[in-house]
Amino acid sequence: MSNPPPPPVDLPSTVVPAIGEVAIRQLVQRFYQRVQQDPVISVMYPPNDWAGAEERLADFLVFRFGGSEAYLAKRGSPRLRIRHAPFAITKTARDRWVELMLASLQEADLPEPTRGIMTEFLGQTATFLMNSTDET
Ligand code: HEM
Repeated sequence: MSNPPPPPVDLPSTVVPAIGEVAIRQLVQRFYQRVQQDPVISVMYPPNDWAGAEERLADFLVFRFGGSEAYLAKRGSPRLRIRHAPFAITKTARDRWVELMLASLQEADLPEPTRGIMTEFLGQTATFLMNSTDET
């Protein structure tokens, strides 16, 4: 008799167990340093709450990458499509967000396979959040 197949593994939830929560918080800190200097997407963010924005994204990623669930306690269900509805996320905005995140990820110099798992999750989620068309 053959064994039943193993249950599918949710790869994103292996990230924090592999690299720790601090690495995620450092990544988000580096990312927002870039965002603040970016002419395309900085204008979308609340100008007086960069620390809050950093905390919300970091808490979410820590939760989604298999760490503490503080995000859920503070913010409830993520509902990312709804929470991004106020912002025009065009392909240009999506690509810039991903570019700045991948530059931050590269700087963090994380080990594989974690880096690849994060790259895929972040890119796919950013695509899923697109909600506007670029003007032609
Ligand atoms: C595609 C390009 C994206 C743009 C332009 C964008 C823009 C924004 C903006 C302007 C905010 C409000 C900042 C604040 O919290 O005050 C925000 C919040 C947030 N974003 Fe994004 N975002 C993008 C992609 C993503 C992706 C890929 C993720 C997750 C992997 C993400 C996760 C979040 C979270 C968790 C919040 C806070 C939600 C809350 O209120 O609890 N975003 N984003």
